[in-house]
Amino acid sequence: MERTWWKECVVYQIYPRSFKDSNGDGIGDLNGITEKLDYLKYLGIDVIWLSPVYESPNDDNGYDISDYQAIMREFGTMEDFDRMLDEAHKRGIRIVMDLVVNHTSDEHKWFIESRKSKDNPYRDYYIWRDPVNGAEPNNWGSCFSGSAWQMDEATGMYYLHMFSRKQPDLNWDNPKVRDEVFDMMTWWLEKGIDGFRMDVISLISKDPSFPDGDPGINGYASFNEPANGPHVHEYLQEMRERVLSKYDTLTVGECSGVTLEEAKKYASSDGKELSMVFQFEHMDVDAEGANKWTDKKMDLRDFKEILTKWQLGLHEIAWNSLYLQNHDQPRCVSRFGDDGQYWAESAKMLATCSHMMQGTPYVYQGEELGMTNVPFKTIEDFRDLDSINAFYELTEKGVYSEEEMLRRIRYKSRDNARSPFQWDSSENAGFSTGEPWMMVNPNYTSINAEEQMGNPESVFHYYKKLIELRKKYPIIVYGNYKLLLPEDKDLYVYERELEGEKLFVAANFSKNTRSLELPDEWKGNPTEILIHNYPDVQLADTLEIRPYEAFVLYMK
Ligand code: GLC
Ligand code: CA
Repeated sequence: MERTWWKECVVYQIYPRSFKDSNGDGIGDLNGITEKLDYLKYLGIDVIWLSPVYESPNDDNGYDISDYQAIMREFGTMEDFDRMLDEAHKRGIRIVMDLVVNHTSDEHKWFIESRKSKDNPYRDYYIWRDPVNGAEPNNWGSCFSGSAWQMDEATGMYYLHMFSRKQPDLNWDNPKVRDEVFDMMTWWLEKGIDGFRMDVISLISKDPSFPDGDPGINGYASFNEPANGPHVHEYLQEMRERVLSKYDTLTVGECSGVTLEEAKKYASSDGKELSMVFQFEHMDVDAEGANKWTDKKMDLRDFKEILTKWQLGLHEIAWNSLYLQNHDQPRCVSRFGDDGQYWAESAKMLATCSHMMQGTPYVYQGEELGMTNVPFKTIEDFRDLDSINAFYELTEKGVYSEEEMLRRIRYKSRDNARSPFQWDSSENAGFSTGEPWMMVNPNYTSINAEEQMGNPESVFHYYKKLIELRKKYPIIVYGNYKLLLPEDKDLYVYERELEGEKLFVAANFSKNTRSLELPDEWKGNPTEILIHNYPDVQLADTLEIRPYEAFVLYMK
Protein backbone atom coordinates (compact mmCIF):
# COMPACT_ATOMS: atom_id res chain seq x y z
CA MET A 1 0.00 0.00 0.00
CA GLU A 2 1.39 3.39 -0.92
CA ARG A 3 2.28 5.51 2.11
CA THR A 4 1.40 9.21 2.02
CA TRP A 5 1.08 12.08 4.48
CA TRP A 6 -2.67 12.32 4.10
CA LYS A 7 -3.07 8.73 5.23
CA GLU A 8 -0.89 9.36 8.28
CA CYS A 9 -2.30 12.69 9.40
CA VAL A 10 -5.06 13.58 11.84
CA VAL A 11 -7.52 16.21 10.65
CA TYR A 12 -9.25 18.67 12.96
CA GLN A 13 -12.45 20.30 11.77
CA ILE A 14 -13.11 23.91 12.71
CA TYR A 15 -16.57 25.41 12.48
CA PRO A 16 -15.34 29.01 12.52
CA ARG A 17 -18.53 30.62 13.76
CA SER A 18 -18.30 28.74 17.03
CA PHE A 19 -14.58 28.28 17.59
CA LYS A 20 -13.18 31.54 19.00
CA ASP A 21 -14.40 35.11 18.79
CA SER A 22 -11.54 37.62 18.82
CA ASN A 23 -13.46 40.91 18.74
CA GLY A 24 -16.44 40.48 21.04
CA ASP A 25 -19.24 40.45 18.45
CA GLY A 26 -20.33 36.98 19.54
CA ILE A 27 -19.20 35.31 16.31
CA GLY A 28 -16.07 33.21 15.95
CA ASP A 29 -13.57 34.50 13.40
CA LEU A 30 -10.25 33.95 11.63
CA ASN A 31 -8.19 35.89 14.16
CA GLY A 32 -9.75 33.70 16.82
CA ILE A 33 -8.48 30.63 14.99
CA THR A 34 -4.99 32.11 14.65
CA GLU A 35 -5.00 32.78 18.41
CA LYS A 36 -5.69 29.11 19.09
CA LEU A 37 -3.24 27.46 16.69
CA ASP A 38 -0.89 26.67 19.55
CA TYR A 39 -3.69 24.78 21.27
CA LEU A 40 -4.13 22.66 18.14
CA LYS A 41 -0.41 22.17 17.77
CA TYR A 42 -0.28 20.94 21.36
CA LEU A 43 -3.14 18.51 20.69
CA GLY A 44 -0.98 17.19 17.87
CA ILE A 45 -3.23 17.47 14.82
CA ASP A 46 -1.66 17.93 11.37
CA VAL A 47 -4.42 19.39 9.22
CA ILE A 48 -7.30 21.79 9.77
CA TRP A 49 -10.45 21.42 7.70
CA LEU A 50 -12.02 24.83 7.81
CA SER A 51 -15.79 24.95 7.32
CA PRO A 52 -16.66 27.76 4.86
CA VAL A 53 -15.28 31.24 5.51
CA TYR A 54 -16.31 32.77 2.18
CA GLU A 55 -18.66 35.67 1.66
CA SER A 56 -22.18 34.48 2.33
CA PRO A 57 -25.58 35.80 3.36
CA ASN A 58 -25.55 32.97 5.94
CA ASP A 59 -28.79 31.27 5.12
CA ASP A 60 -26.94 28.02 5.87
CA ASN A 61 -24.03 29.44 7.90
CA GLY A 62 -21.63 29.91 5.03
CA TYR A 63 -22.61 26.85 2.98
CA ASP A 64 -24.41 29.34 0.74
CA ILE A 65 -21.58 31.23 -0.93
CA SER A 66 -22.02 34.54 -2.74
CA ASP A 67 -18.32 35.09 -3.54
CA TYR A 68 -15.81 32.24 -3.57
CA GLN A 69 -12.83 34.57 -3.56
CA ALA A 70 -13.77 36.81 -0.66
CA ILE A 71 -13.90 36.31 3.10
CA MET A 72 -17.14 36.68 5.02
CA ARG A 73 -17.01 40.08 6.71
CA GLU A 74 -18.00 38.64 10.10
CA PHE A 75 -14.98 36.33 9.94
CA GLY A 76 -12.41 38.98 9.02
CA THR A 77 -10.46 39.94 5.92
CA MET A 78 -8.30 38.25 3.30
CA GLU A 79 -5.28 39.59 5.19
CA ASP A 80 -6.53 37.79 8.31
CA PHE A 81 -6.87 34.65 6.23
CA ASP A 82 -3.35 34.95 4.83
CA ARG A 83 -1.95 35.46 8.30
CA MET A 84 -3.82 32.44 9.64
CA LEU A 85 -2.55 30.29 6.77
CA ASP A 86 0.97 31.50 7.30
CA GLU A 87 0.89 30.95 11.07
CA ALA A 88 -0.58 27.48 10.59
CA HIS A 89 2.14 26.56 8.09
CA LYS A 90 4.82 27.86 10.45
CA ARG A 91 3.56 25.30 12.96
CA GLY A 92 3.49 22.52 10.40
CA ILE A 93 -0.31 22.54 10.23
CA ARG A 94 -1.94 22.29 6.82
CA ILE A 95 -5.20 23.99 5.88
CA VAL A 96 -7.92 22.27 3.88
CA MET A 97 -10.77 24.49 2.70
CA ASP A 98 -14.41 23.61 2.29
CA LEU A 99 -15.34 23.58 -1.38
CA VAL A 100 -19.08 24.14 -1.77
CA VAL A 101 -19.78 23.86 -5.48
CA ASN A 102 -22.89 21.73 -5.80
CA HIS A 103 -24.67 25.05 -5.33
CA THR A 104 -24.02 28.74 -4.74
CA SER A 105 -26.00 31.33 -2.82
CA ASP A 106 -28.91 32.89 -4.72
CA GLU A 107 -27.01 36.13 -4.02
CA HIS A 108 -24.01 35.00 -6.05
CA LYS A 109 -23.59 37.20 -9.12
CA TRP A 110 -24.00 34.18 -11.42
CA PHE A 111 -27.46 33.47 -10.04
CA ILE A 112 -28.50 37.11 -9.94
CA GLU A 113 -27.76 37.15 -13.68
CA SER A 114 -29.14 33.69 -14.37
CA ARG A 115 -32.62 34.40 -13.07
CA LYS A 116 -32.99 37.63 -15.08
CA SER A 117 -33.99 36.10 -18.39
CA LYS A 118 -33.97 32.89 -20.38
CA ASP A 119 -31.26 34.18 -22.69
CA ASN A 120 -28.95 35.60 -20.05
CA PRO A 121 -25.37 34.33 -20.57
CA TYR A 122 -25.47 32.84 -17.04
CA ARG A 123 -28.83 31.10 -17.54
CA ASP A 124 -27.24 27.67 -18.02
CA TYR A 125 -25.05 27.99 -14.95
CA TYR A 126 -28.03 26.65 -13.00
CA ILE A 127 -30.74 24.04 -13.52
CA TRP A 128 -33.98 25.49 -14.89
CA ARG A 129 -37.06 23.50 -15.84
CA ASP A 130 -40.56 24.32 -17.05
CA PRO A 131 -43.51 23.33 -14.86
CA VAL A 132 -44.94 19.90 -15.62
CA ASN A 133 -48.77 19.94 -15.55
CA GLY A 134 -48.57 23.20 -13.66
CA ALA A 135 -46.37 21.77 -10.90
CA GLU A 136 -42.79 20.90 -9.94
CA PRO A 137 -40.88 18.87 -12.55
CA ASN A 138 -40.50 15.92 -10.15
CA ASN A 139 -40.91 14.90 -6.49
CA TRP A 140 -37.37 15.56 -5.30
CA GLY A 141 -37.23 17.03 -1.81
CA SER A 142 -34.79 19.57 -0.47
CA CYS A 143 -32.52 18.38 2.34
CA PHE A 144 -34.03 21.18 4.40
CA SER A 145 -37.76 20.30 3.92
CA GLY A 146 -40.22 20.93 1.11
CA SER A 147 -39.70 20.56 -2.63
CA ALA A 148 -36.27 20.91 -4.23
CA TRP A 149 -37.82 23.12 -6.94
CA GLN A 150 -38.56 26.79 -6.60
CA MET A 151 -40.74 28.72 -9.07
CA ASP A 152 -39.05 31.93 -10.16
CA GLU A 153 -41.58 34.55 -11.25
CA ALA A 154 -39.28 36.49 -13.59
CA THR A 155 -39.27 33.71 -16.19
CA GLY A 156 -42.02 31.39 -14.94
CA MET A 157 -39.62 28.46 -14.59
CA TYR A 158 -38.44 26.36 -11.67
CA TYR A 159 -34.85 26.19 -10.47
CA LEU A 160 -33.42 23.23 -8.60
CA HIS A 161 -32.11 23.55 -5.03
CA MET A 162 -31.26 20.30 -3.24
CA PHE A 163 -30.68 22.45 -0.12
CA SER A 164 -32.40 25.72 0.81
CA ARG A 165 -34.17 27.98 -1.66
CA LYS A 166 -31.21 30.28 -1.25
CA GLN A 167 -28.84 27.53 -2.47
CA PRO A 168 -29.56 26.98 -6.19
CA ASP A 169 -27.76 23.96 -7.69
CA LEU A 170 -25.06 24.66 -10.26
CA ASN A 171 -25.29 22.98 -13.65
CA TRP A 172 -22.09 20.94 -13.89
CA ASP A 173 -22.99 19.79 -17.39
CA ASN A 174 -22.15 23.31 -18.53
CA PRO A 175 -18.39 23.39 -19.30
CA LYS A 176 -18.27 27.08 -18.32
CA VAL A 177 -19.33 26.16 -14.78
CA ARG A 178 -16.52 23.64 -14.57
CA ASP A 179 -14.03 26.21 -15.89
CA GLU A 180 -15.12 28.71 -13.26
CA VAL A 181 -14.89 26.18 -10.43
CA PHE A 182 -11.51 24.87 -11.54
CA ASP A 183 -10.08 28.39 -11.91
CA MET A 184 -11.32 29.29 -8.45
CA MET A 185 -9.77 26.14 -6.96
CA THR A 186 -6.46 26.94 -8.66
CA TRP A 187 -6.57 30.45 -7.22
CA TRP A 188 -6.83 29.05 -3.66
CA LEU A 189 -4.19 26.41 -4.24
CA GLU A 190 -1.82 29.07 -5.61
CA LYS A 191 -2.38 30.93 -2.34
CA GLY A 192 -0.93 27.90 -0.62
CA ILE A 193 -3.85 25.97 0.84
CA ASP A 194 -3.42 22.22 1.13
CA GLY A 195 -6.59 20.69 -0.18
CA PHE A 196 -10.36 20.63 -0.15
CA ARG A 197 -13.21 19.00 1.68
CA MET A 198 -15.82 18.84 -1.04
CA ASP A 199 -19.35 19.54 0.10
CA VAL A 200 -21.97 17.03 -1.18
CA ILE A 201 -19.76 16.39 -4.19
CA SER A 202 -21.64 13.15 -4.90
CA LEU A 203 -24.66 15.24 -5.96
CA ILE A 204 -23.12 17.37 -8.72
CA SER A 205 -24.21 15.33 -11.73
CA LYS A 206 -27.97 15.08 -12.19
CA ASP A 207 -29.78 12.57 -14.37
CA PRO A 208 -31.20 14.84 -17.11
CA SER A 209 -34.46 12.87 -17.15
CA PHE A 210 -35.09 13.93 -13.51
CA PRO A 211 -36.90 10.74 -12.49
CA ASP A 212 -39.15 10.70 -9.40
CA GLY A 213 -37.85 8.94 -6.30
CA ASP A 214 -39.53 7.11 -3.41
CA PRO A 215 -41.36 9.59 -1.18
CA GLY A 216 -40.30 9.87 2.50
CA ILE A 217 -42.30 10.91 5.59
CA ASN A 218 -42.82 14.46 4.29
CA GLY A 219 -44.03 13.24 0.88
CA TYR A 220 -40.86 14.13 -1.04
CA ALA A 221 -38.01 11.98 -2.31
CA SER A 222 -34.72 12.20 -0.42
CA PHE A 223 -32.20 14.92 -1.27
CA ASN A 224 -29.83 12.04 -2.02
CA GLU A 225 -31.84 11.13 -5.08
CA PRO A 226 -29.23 12.59 -7.50
CA ALA A 227 -26.26 10.95 -5.69
CA ASN A 228 -23.57 9.30 -7.85
CA GLY A 229 -25.11 10.67 -11.04
CA PRO A 230 -24.12 9.81 -14.62
CA HIS A 231 -21.05 12.08 -15.01
CA VAL A 232 -19.82 12.54 -11.46
CA HIS A 233 -16.65 10.46 -11.91
CA GLU A 234 -15.89 12.06 -15.25
CA TYR A 235 -16.12 15.54 -13.69
CA LEU A 236 -13.93 14.61 -10.75
CA GLN A 237 -11.34 13.09 -13.09
CA GLU A 238 -11.37 16.28 -15.08
CA MET A 239 -10.87 18.21 -11.83
CA ARG A 240 -7.91 15.99 -10.98
CA GLU A 241 -6.34 16.43 -14.39
CA ARG A 242 -6.85 20.14 -14.71
CA VAL A 243 -6.29 21.22 -11.11
CA LEU A 244 -5.41 18.76 -8.38
CA SER A 245 -2.68 16.86 -10.24
CA LYS A 246 -0.56 20.02 -10.10
CA TYR A 247 -0.53 20.19 -6.29
CA ASP A 248 0.09 17.96 -3.29
CA THR A 249 -3.31 17.93 -1.61
CA LEU A 250 -5.65 16.13 0.72
CA THR A 251 -9.08 15.88 -0.86
CA VAL A 252 -12.09 14.42 0.88
CA GLY A 253 -15.47 14.20 -0.77
CA GLU A 254 -18.55 14.50 1.36
CA CYS A 255 -20.43 11.77 -0.48
CA SER A 256 -23.96 11.50 0.81
CA GLY A 257 -25.64 8.48 -0.72
CA VAL A 258 -22.32 6.82 -1.52
CA THR A 259 -22.15 3.03 -1.65
CA LEU A 260 -19.04 0.95 -1.18
CA GLU A 261 -18.83 0.29 -4.91
CA GLU A 262 -19.04 4.00 -5.71
CA ALA A 263 -16.49 4.88 -3.03
CA LYS A 264 -13.99 2.57 -4.71
CA LYS A 265 -14.18 4.91 -7.69
CA TYR A 266 -14.21 8.24 -5.82
CA ALA A 267 -11.30 7.36 -3.56
CA SER A 268 -9.48 4.82 -5.67
CA SER A 269 -5.80 4.45 -4.90
CA ASP A 270 -5.07 5.01 -8.59
CA GLY A 271 -5.39 8.68 -7.56
CA LYS A 272 -7.66 9.70 -10.42
CA GLU A 273 -10.28 11.38 -8.25
CA LEU A 274 -10.14 12.03 -4.47
CA SER A 275 -7.94 11.00 -1.55
CA MET A 276 -10.92 9.71 0.41
CA VAL A 277 -14.63 10.14 1.01
CA PHE A 278 -16.96 10.64 3.92
CA GLN A 279 -19.51 7.86 3.79
CA PHE A 280 -22.71 8.11 5.83
CA GLU A 281 -23.90 4.61 6.55
CA HIS A 282 -22.73 4.65 10.17
CA MET A 283 -24.41 8.04 10.63
CA ASP A 284 -27.69 6.50 9.46
CA VAL A 285 -27.38 3.61 11.90
CA ASP A 286 -30.01 5.10 14.21
CA ALA A 287 -32.30 6.44 11.46
CA GLU A 288 -35.66 4.97 10.53
CA GLY A 289 -35.34 4.46 6.80
CA ALA A 290 -34.67 7.90 5.34
CA ASN A 291 -35.94 9.64 8.49
CA LYS A 292 -33.04 10.86 10.59
CA TRP A 293 -35.27 12.50 13.21
CA THR A 294 -35.25 9.63 15.63
CA ASP A 295 -34.26 9.46 19.25
CA LYS A 296 -33.47 5.77 19.42
CA LYS A 297 -30.12 4.28 20.35
CA MET A 298 -28.29 2.30 17.69
CA ASP A 299 -27.80 -1.45 17.78
CA LEU A 300 -24.04 -1.96 18.08
CA ARG A 301 -24.20 -5.02 15.82
CA ASP A 302 -25.38 -2.82 12.93
CA PHE A 303 -22.65 -0.28 13.64
CA LYS A 304 -19.97 -2.98 13.58
CA GLU A 305 -21.34 -4.52 10.42
CA ILE A 306 -21.26 -1.18 8.61
CA LEU A 307 -17.80 -0.11 9.70
CA THR A 308 -16.39 -3.56 9.06
CA LYS A 309 -17.83 -3.53 5.56
CA TRP A 310 -15.99 -0.26 4.89
CA GLN A 311 -12.75 -1.38 6.56
CA LEU A 312 -12.59 -4.57 4.54
CA GLY A 313 -14.17 -3.23 1.38
CA LEU A 314 -11.71 -0.39 0.80
CA HIS A 315 -8.60 -2.22 2.03
CA GLU A 316 -5.84 -1.83 -0.59
CA ILE A 317 -8.37 -0.44 -3.08
CA ALA A 318 -9.20 3.00 -1.72
CA TRP A 319 -8.89 4.87 1.58
CA ASN A 320 -11.29 5.43 4.51
CA SER A 321 -11.99 8.52 6.52
CA LEU A 322 -12.79 7.87 10.19
CA TYR A 323 -15.28 10.09 11.97
CA LEU A 324 -18.01 9.93 14.58
CA GLN A 325 -19.30 13.45 14.27
CA ASN A 326 -19.01 16.73 12.40
CA HIS A 327 -20.93 20.02 12.18
CA ASP A 328 -23.97 18.19 10.76
CA GLN A 329 -24.31 15.56 13.48
CA PRO A 330 -25.11 15.57 17.17
CA ARG A 331 -22.28 15.06 19.67
CA CYS A 332 -20.98 11.50 19.55
CA VAL A 333 -20.66 11.09 23.30
CA SER A 334 -24.37 11.89 23.70
CA ARG A 335 -25.37 9.77 20.75
CA PHE A 336 -23.20 6.64 20.95
CA GLY A 337 -21.83 6.91 24.50
CA ASP A 338 -23.19 8.07 27.84
CA ASP A 339 -22.99 11.78 28.60
CA GLY A 340 -24.01 11.20 32.24
CA GLN A 341 -22.33 8.84 34.70
CA TYR A 342 -19.78 7.46 32.22
CA TRP A 343 -19.17 10.65 30.28
CA ALA A 344 -15.35 10.60 30.29
CA GLU A 345 -15.05 6.83 29.93
CA SER A 346 -17.43 6.69 27.00
CA ALA A 347 -15.88 9.70 25.21
CA LYS A 348 -12.48 7.98 25.43
CA MET A 349 -13.91 4.62 24.44
CA LEU A 350 -15.47 6.04 21.27
CA ALA A 351 -12.23 7.76 20.35
CA THR A 352 -10.28 4.54 20.84
CA CYS A 353 -12.65 2.53 18.73
CA SER A 354 -12.55 4.99 15.85
CA HIS A 355 -8.89 6.07 15.92
CA MET A 356 -7.56 2.52 15.92
CA MET A 357 -9.15 1.71 12.56
CA GLN A 358 -7.56 1.96 9.14
CA GLY A 359 -8.10 5.40 7.64
CA THR A 360 -7.59 9.08 8.35
CA PRO A 361 -9.24 10.25 11.59
CA TYR A 362 -11.21 13.49 11.78
CA VAL A 363 -11.71 15.22 15.11
CA TYR A 364 -14.52 17.75 15.23
CA GLN A 365 -13.93 20.79 17.44
CA GLY A 366 -14.80 20.06 21.06
CA GLU A 367 -14.89 16.31 20.48
CA GLU A 368 -11.44 16.21 22.09
CA LEU A 369 -13.06 17.61 25.26
CA GLY A 370 -16.01 15.25 25.14
CA MET A 371 -18.37 18.16 24.49
CA THR A 372 -21.98 16.97 24.75
CA ASN A 373 -25.36 17.72 23.20
CA VAL A 374 -26.93 20.99 24.29
CA PRO A 375 -30.00 21.21 26.58
CA PHE A 376 -32.09 23.30 24.16
CA LYS A 377 -35.42 24.24 25.73
CA THR A 378 -37.68 25.61 23.02
CA ILE A 379 -37.59 25.84 19.23
CA GLU A 380 -36.39 29.45 19.66
CA ASP A 381 -33.09 28.15 21.03
CA PHE A 382 -32.23 26.58 17.66
CA ARG A 383 -30.38 28.43 14.89
CA ASP A 384 -30.11 25.75 12.19
CA LEU A 385 -32.55 26.04 9.29
CA ASP A 386 -32.61 22.28 8.84
CA SER A 387 -33.86 21.67 12.38
CA ILE A 388 -36.25 24.63 12.37
CA ASN A 389 -37.79 23.78 8.98
CA ALA A 390 -38.19 20.12 9.90
CA PHE A 391 -39.86 21.10 13.16
CA TYR A 392 -42.52 23.17 11.40
CA GLU A 393 -42.96 20.85 8.43
CA LEU A 394 -43.41 17.66 10.42
CA THR A 395 -45.59 19.19 13.15
CA GLU A 396 -47.79 21.01 10.63
CA LYS A 397 -48.23 17.83 8.62
CA GLY A 398 -49.17 16.05 11.84
CA VAL A 399 -46.32 13.52 11.58
CA TYR A 400 -45.24 14.38 15.15
CA SER A 401 -46.65 16.48 17.97
CA GLU A 402 -44.59 19.55 18.89
CA GLU A 403 -43.38 17.95 22.06
CA GLU A 404 -42.31 14.80 20.29
CA MET A 405 -40.56 16.66 17.47
CA LEU A 406 -38.76 18.85 19.97
CA ARG A 407 -37.48 15.74 21.71
CA ARG A 408 -36.23 14.40 18.38
CA ILE A 409 -34.46 17.57 17.26
CA ARG A 410 -32.95 18.02 20.71
CA TYR A 411 -31.33 14.66 20.20
CA LYS A 412 -30.43 14.88 16.52
CA SER A 413 -30.11 18.55 15.58
CA ARG A 414 -26.84 19.69 14.06
CA ASP A 415 -26.99 22.66 16.44
CA ASN A 416 -25.77 20.26 19.12
CA ALA A 417 -22.39 20.40 17.42
CA ARG A 418 -22.47 24.12 16.78
CA SER A 419 -22.62 25.59 20.27
CA PRO A 420 -19.58 27.71 21.17
CA PHE A 421 -16.33 25.95 21.93
CA GLN A 422 -15.77 25.62 25.66
CA TRP A 423 -12.39 27.21 26.33
CA ASP A 424 -12.59 27.84 30.08
CA SER A 425 -14.99 28.41 32.96
CA SER A 426 -15.26 32.19 32.55
CA GLU A 427 -18.36 33.85 31.16
CA ASN A 428 -19.52 32.46 27.78
CA ALA A 429 -17.02 29.64 28.19
CA GLY A 430 -14.24 32.04 27.18
CA PHE A 431 -15.56 31.91 23.62
CA SER A 432 -16.54 35.56 23.42
CA THR A 433 -16.71 38.68 25.55
CA GLY A 434 -20.00 39.54 23.83
CA GLU A 435 -23.32 37.75 23.49
CA PRO A 436 -22.63 34.48 21.58
CA TRP A 437 -24.61 33.91 18.37
CA MET A 438 -26.06 30.76 19.87
CA MET A 439 -26.39 29.45 23.38
CA VAL A 440 -23.37 28.14 25.23
CA ASN A 441 -23.79 24.70 26.74
CA PRO A 442 -24.21 25.35 30.49
CA ASN A 443 -21.87 22.44 31.28
CA TYR A 444 -18.87 24.60 30.25
CA THR A 445 -18.05 25.19 33.90
CA SER A 446 -16.99 21.55 34.18
CA ILE A 447 -16.24 20.63 30.53
CA ASN A 448 -13.66 23.05 29.13
CA ALA A 449 -10.21 23.10 27.54
CA GLU A 450 -8.43 24.88 30.34
CA GLU A 451 -9.49 22.36 32.96
CA GLN A 452 -8.67 19.41 30.70
CA MET A 453 -5.27 20.65 29.61
CA GLY A 454 -4.29 20.77 33.26
CA ASN A 455 -5.62 17.29 33.98
CA PRO A 456 -3.53 14.38 32.64
CA GLU A 457 -6.52 12.00 32.95
CA SER A 458 -8.77 14.17 30.80
CA VAL A 459 -10.48 13.35 27.53
CA PHE A 460 -8.20 15.96 25.92
CA HIS A 461 -5.03 14.18 27.03
CA TYR A 462 -6.48 10.89 25.88
CA TYR A 463 -7.00 12.28 22.35
CA LYS A 464 -3.50 13.71 22.43
CA LYS A 465 -2.17 10.28 23.29
CA LEU A 466 -4.17 8.57 20.54
CA ILE A 467 -2.71 11.04 18.05
CA GLU A 468 0.84 10.40 19.33
CA LEU A 469 0.37 6.64 19.04
CA ARG A 470 -0.68 6.97 15.41
CA LYS A 471 2.59 8.78 14.68
CA LYS A 472 4.62 6.12 16.41
CA TYR A 473 2.99 2.91 15.17
CA PRO A 474 2.47 2.55 11.41
CA ILE A 475 0.23 -0.45 12.13
CA ILE A 476 -2.43 1.99 13.38
CA VAL A 477 -2.47 3.69 10.01
CA TYR A 478 -1.79 0.81 7.63
CA GLY A 479 -2.55 -2.48 9.37
CA ASN A 480 -5.32 -4.68 8.08
CA TYR A 481 -8.51 -5.11 10.12
CA LYS A 482 -10.35 -8.12 11.41
CA LEU A 483 -13.59 -8.03 13.40
CA LEU A 484 -14.04 -10.44 16.31
CA LEU A 485 -17.37 -11.23 18.03
CA PRO A 486 -19.63 -9.75 15.33
CA GLU A 487 -22.77 -10.83 17.21
CA ASP A 488 -21.87 -9.28 20.55
CA LYS A 489 -24.28 -6.44 21.31
CA ASP A 490 -22.05 -4.68 23.89
CA LEU A 491 -18.45 -5.15 22.79
CA TYR A 492 -16.65 -3.91 19.69
CA VAL A 493 -13.51 -6.04 19.40
CA TYR A 494 -11.12 -6.07 16.47
CA GLU A 495 -7.55 -6.88 15.55
CA ARG A 496 -5.08 -5.16 13.26
CA GLU A 497 -2.00 -6.65 11.70
CA LEU A 498 1.00 -5.31 9.79
CA GLU A 499 4.22 -7.13 8.96
CA GLY A 500 4.34 -9.28 12.09
CA GLU A 501 2.94 -6.66 14.43
CA LYS A 502 -0.54 -6.94 15.92
CA LEU A 503 -3.07 -4.81 17.74
CA PHE A 504 -6.03 -5.97 19.78
CA VAL A 505 -8.72 -3.34 20.34
CA ALA A 506 -11.61 -3.82 22.75
CA ALA A 507 -14.35 -1.28 23.42
CA ASN A 508 -17.40 -1.72 25.61
CA PHE A 509 -20.32 0.31 24.25
CA SER A 510 -22.53 -0.52 27.24
CA LYS A 511 -22.96 -0.11 30.98
CA ASN A 512 -22.70 -3.87 31.41
CA THR A 513 -19.58 -5.46 32.83
CA ARG A 514 -18.64 -8.24 30.46
CA SER A 515 -16.04 -10.92 30.54
CA LEU A 516 -13.92 -11.34 27.47
CA GLU A 517 -11.58 -14.21 26.83
CA LEU A 518 -8.54 -13.17 24.81
CA PRO A 519 -7.83 -15.14 21.63
CA ASP A 520 -5.17 -17.82 22.23
CA GLU A 521 -2.27 -16.00 20.64
CA TRP A 522 -2.75 -13.06 23.01
CA LYS A 523 -2.77 -15.25 26.11
CA GLY A 524 0.42 -15.17 28.12
CA ASN A 525 2.38 -13.49 25.31
CA PRO A 526 4.42 -10.42 26.08
CA THR A 527 1.99 -7.71 25.14
CA GLU A 528 2.05 -4.03 25.75
CA ILE A 529 -1.02 -1.97 26.69
CA LEU A 530 -0.83 1.00 24.34
CA ILE A 531 -3.71 2.91 25.85
CA HIS A 532 -6.64 2.31 28.17
CA ASN A 533 -9.41 4.47 29.57
CA TYR A 534 -9.53 3.07 33.11
CA PRO A 535 -6.52 3.72 35.33
CA ASP A 536 -5.93 0.12 36.39
CA VAL A 537 -6.07 -2.51 33.65
CA GLN A 538 -4.66 -5.88 34.72
CA LEU A 539 -3.96 -8.28 31.89
CA ALA A 540 -5.34 -11.81 32.22
CA ASP A 541 -6.50 -14.50 29.81
CA THR A 542 -10.07 -13.56 30.62
CA LEU A 543 -10.76 -9.91 31.31
CA GLU A 544 -13.68 -8.29 33.08
CA ILE A 545 -14.54 -5.34 30.89
CA ARG A 546 -16.18 -2.55 32.82
CA PRO A 547 -18.80 -0.03 31.59
CA TYR A 548 -17.48 1.80 28.52
CA GLU A 549 -14.01 0.43 29.12
CA ALA A 550 -11.61 0.40 26.18
CA PHE A 551 -8.00 -0.64 25.68
CA VAL A 552 -5.50 -1.47 22.98
CA LEU A 553 -2.93 -4.26 23.21
CA TYR A 554 0.18 -4.46 21.05
CA MET A 555 2.37 -7.43 20.19
CA LYS A 556 5.43 -7.79 17.99
C1 GLC B 1 -23.25 19.64 3.49
C2 GLC B 1 -22.75 20.44 4.66
C3 GLC B 1 -23.93 20.99 5.39
C4 GLC B 1 -24.68 21.91 4.46
C5 GLC B 1 -25.03 21.20 3.16
C6 GLC B 1 -25.38 22.19 2.09
O1 GLC B 1 -23.96 18.53 3.88
O2 GLC B 1 -21.93 19.66 5.47
O3 GLC B 1 -23.59 21.68 6.56
O4 GLC B 1 -25.82 22.38 5.07
O5 GLC B 1 -23.97 20.44 2.63
O6 GLC B 1 -24.24 22.89 1.67
CA1 CA C 1 -15.93 37.94 15.95
